[in-house]
Amino acid sequence: METSEVRADIPLLEKVIYLDAASTTPTPKPVVEAMCDYFYNYNANTGRGAYSLAIKATQKMKEAKQKVANFVNASPEEIVFTKNTTEAINIVANGLSFEKGDSVIVPNIEHHSNFLPWLNLRKKGVNLKVVKTDSSGIVDPYSIENAVDETTRLIAVTHVSNAIGSVQDVHEIGKIAREKDLLYLIDAAQSIGHMKVDISDINADFAAFPGHKGTLGPVGTGFLYCNQKRVSELEPTSLGGGTVLDVSEDDFELETFPARFEGGTGNIAGFIGLGASIDYINRIGLNKIEKHSINLTQELYSSLASIKNVTCYGNPQNIYGIVSFNINNMHPHDVAKILDEIGGICVRSGHHCAIPAIKHIGAYEQGGTVRASVHYYNNFEEIQTLATTVEEIAKTFGA
Ligand SMILES: Cc1ncc(COP(=O)(O)O)c(C=O)c1O
Repeated sequence: METSEVRADIPLLEKVIYLDAASTTPTPKPVVEAMCDYFYNYNANTGRGAYSLAIKATQKMKEAKQKVANFVNASPEEIVFTKNTTEAINIVANGLSFEKGDSVIVPNIEHHSNFLPWLNLRKKGVNLKVVKTDSSGIVDPYSIENAVDETTRLIAVTHVSNAIGSVQDVHEIGKIAREKDLLYLIDAAQSIGHMKVDISDINADFAAFPGHKGTLGPVGTGFLYCNQKRVSELEPTSLGGGTVLDVSEDDFELETFPARFEGGTGNIAGFIGLGASIDYINRIGLNKIEKHSINLTQELYSSLASIKNVTCYGNPQNIYGIVSFNINNMHPHDVAKILDEIGGICVRSGHHCAIPAIKHIGAYEQGGTVRASVHYYNNFEEIQTLATTVEEIAKTFGA
């Protein structure tokens, strides 16, 4: 599929220039249609009913999970459906049995969703060791290795930074985790659907994924990968319908993994939509997506960086899909608002839920950055329009 064909499946792209894929992506028609099919034709709960509608819904959910598992090279028995990436990380942080004096290592460029759940473990006496990245937001795997000591239990790293697009060497960090026999979690919120994420190749124990970003699935979907070997180390923190095999008045027997983590009625339509979105991404082809995204990112960075009074963040050689920038002396929210008003351009502005990262790149006092982020549906004309509009704003208001 070409970019123009994908654009034809996303009507809102006729109305705006959407450059906020890092927040969430618009949902293509075939994905919406798969959800409508559920609502119109077999809207029933899953894993419960003996009637044919319920059996069909259960089967469709099962197929969706298989698609998701294949997409990251895992088995469906290793996948827990969640409402988003944040929930997936919290399941791990709150489900592992940490002890007082244990420590967790994270780089200082993380999204709050891969920072706060670990920081919060200090209530249990767990220390968070925050490893400094370089000025372009890259963590040297050896600084992670140097931070490891006898207290370290887990390393948690974001694959691609949502704040500035820097790409971490998750394979090399995975090797360190294996050598030192540590747990390893990756936050793949900004990589899945944008590039190949092969979880067994990365060698992670846990990985957190959104369904609503790079895979072009609906909001309210995400999933957790948990390596088979680690399943027994994770305790569910939310119990209820669907999580047990047997219950007496004073005890219960947990379901197997992943059912024990999927209590209550989930976002059935959403997960069926997520399955359809994986089909859609496969139809375009990840290689094609990757090639286009790299070209768009380079164009985005170079056209913005060449504008007078504009500062771009990150190393253009090592960013993917995301360019963070500022117009000197302007608050990023003002820039974003003007871009919307005069150009119908949707970009994110502010701290991007990554305040430590924004402090690290020196953009905190300015109020954060303006962030443009792309996917396969974006084209070069849109990047050019962004650049000319930013130039106009910088000429009028920048200093
Ligand atoms: C790197 C990263 N991690 C986690 C999240 C949280 O994702 P979700 O909204 O799916 O919980 C985001 C969202 O932007 C992100 O970019």
